[in-house]
Amino acid sequence: MPLPTSIRREGSLAIVTIDNPPVNAMSASVRAGLLAAMQSLSRDSSVEAVVIACAGRTFVAGADIREFDSGVIEPTARQVLNAVERCPHPVVAALHGTALGAGAELALACHYRCAVPGARIGLPELTLGIIPGAGGTQRLPRLIGARRALELILEASPIGATEAQRIGLIDRLIQDDLATGAVAYARELIGEGAGPRPTSGLPVDSDGFDDAFIEQRLAAAHKRMRGQRAPDLAVEAVRAATQLSFEEGLDREAQIALRQVKSAEAKALRHLFFAERAAARVPGLSQSVPPLMIQRVAIIGAGTMGRGIAGTCADAGLQVELIEADAQALSNGLAALRAIYESAVGRERITAEQMTERLALIHGGLALEAVNDVDLVIEAVPEDIELKKRIFGRLGSLNCAGALLASNTSTLDLDEIAAASGRPESFVGLHFFSPAHVMRLLEIVRGRRTSDEALVTALALAKRLRKVGVVVANSAREPLAARGSEIGSGERGGHSFGFVGNRMMLEGYLREADQLLLEGAAPDRIDRALERFGFAMGPFTMSDMAGLDVALKSRESSGIRARRRPPYHEVADELARRGRLGQKGGAGFYRYEGGARTPLPDPETTALIEELARRLGIERRTVNDEEIEVRCVYPLINEGAKILAEGIAYRPGDIDVIWTTGYGFPRVRGGPMFYADSLGLANVYEEIARLYARLGQYWQPAPLLKELAESGRSFAQWSNERQ
Ligand code: COA
Repeated sequence: MPLPTSIRREGSLAIVTIDNPPVNAMSASVRAGLLAAMQSLSRDSSVEAVVIACAGRTFVAGADIREFDSGVIEPTARQVLNAVERCPHPVVAALHGTALGAGAELALACHYRCAVPGARIGLPELTLGIIPGAGGTQRLPRLIGARRALELILEASPIGATEAQRIGLIDRLIQDDLATGAVAYARELIGEGAGPRPTSGLPVDSDGFDDAFIEQRLAAAHKRMRGQRAPDLAVEAVRAATQLSFEEGLDREAQIALRQVKSAEAKALRHLFFAERAAARVPGLSQSVPPLMIQRVAIIGAGTMGRGIAGTCADAGLQVELIEADAQALSNGLAALRAIYESAVGRERITAEQMTERLALIHGGLALEAVNDVDLVIEAVPEDIELKKRIFGRLGSLNCAGALLASNTSTLDLDEIAAASGRPESFVGLHFFSPAHVMRLLEIVRGRRTSDEALVTALALAKRLRKVGVVVANSAREPLAARGSEIGSGERGGHSFGFVGNRMMLEGYLREADQLLLEGAAPDRIDRALERFGFAMGPFTMSDMAGLDVALKSRESSGIRARRRPPYHEVADELARRGRLGQKGGAGFYRYEGGARTPLPDPETTALIEELARRLGIERRTVNDEEIEVRCVYPLINEGAKILAEGIAYRPGDIDVIWTTGYGFPRVRGGPMFYADSLGLANVYEEIARLYARLGQYWQPAPLLKELAESGRSFAQWSNERQ
């Protein structure tokens, strides 16, 4: 194994290079190498300046997250960075790629910083539920002031080198070759007689770092990082920089950081970091198949989903043909897209020029012939399988034989639609989430005959669209009936109705929320309890936003309940039948006043619930918050276990990614399967078995859950055993 650090001499200049692919994470061996290098160079009187740079695609992109569970490993980043800062020769950091976390902190400990214009620098620790722990909270305020430092730490998103130079974080932009430019800069410093410039020696500018500012920034951070403690802890650490000496401040930072790295919040967010990356690795998928080139996309249907997908594609620089059968619907779709972009310009998310460029990429049309010569067709028409089959049936006579074909269906049998296209091997499901230009999740549905090439292309597309692509299967590995499954996808003719996310939501989460209404809990009571658990939005506020007609239509068209119609969705369906379609119509589970989006409890809904409960013979009672939480969250775990056993999802982490990126499950709990592991599967199983005894078949414990609980294993262990 080559050492991850090396020293090269150019006369009186020493260049220390870190080479630890893929992202030069500051692992224990990097720290040891860097410390040894700094100790020897500090003693060497023939050295006049040191440059610290990285090989490969980036400067150090952070501490090595894989080491976070291992406790303190010497030398610590603090020891190494102090050695860098105490070097008696000027030390220059040369940045390219992403200098993140411990990488940014290393740069801060250097005396001077130069960067290529494309470099990005930032402290994203809060996204991992931790705070910068290698001096970042103490050095950054000394360099750019406490106010701006707190902003950067709370925003947790990197800034570009030009902006970094503007605020004093970068001293020099290197336009040409970084290695040559950094050496020239170091020589310039030697020539000027510029000595070491330790950041720790600078005073902290606390101007504007007052309670009102802190409160406001903290509130914004909490909105983005629901349920996290880390933002408050970051404030505590930056405050320490304004009140204590540098060394005392470092002690305070270390104390907080060490405690927080072991917190449940940090463990959950670490799990999601790796789970999101693991999701791109599909078991059995050939690594050697290159993806198809995608540049022109046809999107069929200009409704909410179609236009959102069109916007997402244009944002990624793809050319879009937006096809709609109805002229009015097309012009509404295009107008809505323009409005989305105008609002983004208004909020300074994009510039007016970017809006013009992106709109110019989108071309609307009424004829299906616009699919000619495209690389990808995405169908986004309403959930009507016959309509979808008709559309794909027609594509056979058009000129798009090389294109990847995709349906945005959220529930229907992909294999049936794929068969109608005549090209099932080129067919995938691309299940976007609404609003498609905002939501990060893309469920990629693999049909029985989907080729490796189609799947690899869909995964590459997800990356290009800046989505988290998670591959799920359309149907179980073996027919469920053969395995005697009472419930689950088998009931719906062989495919997993709703794939992973919607199946768990409809048949787990919403089933229980709806049932609890009949048993006695009001919609706002249930919403509040689940929001307290950490969901972005309670189920009834969410249903009202999505539109109650959507769920009713999907239930009616699926024919799931033709044979055996359980009562639990009756409230939702009856509201829809009465024209209470949700927020868009001013009333659903809640009422809405004057076009506002604030849900207000509605006595009419209460009366309907009471009437239905009477009719169904359900005795109403007081339901407490704890019961609401267990009744709604545990079915996710149980259904998730069935989905894993059926092979619909490949790993528990994939389910966690789906639920945290697509359904507002609290990230600080790591997703339903990670949450289950943290509760202990034996406890979860016992509770579900109790509910099964009390409430009947929909609570039948999943065999996999039972097996793991009885053998004292977790979903994570089960997943590792199968790798
Ligand atoms: N520690 C350990 N492994 C890391 C890592 C870190 N800090 N950052 C990235 N990796 C790994 C990823 O897990 C991935 O491994 P895999 O290929 O086995 O899945 C690999 O490096 C590439 O990362 P990926 O995110 O897929 O590459 P990218 O080019 O899309 O993004 C970064 C690169 C650096 C922007 C991104 O990985 C990132 O944001 N990393 C975390 C940075 C961070 O939060 N640092 C602060 C930590 S304290």
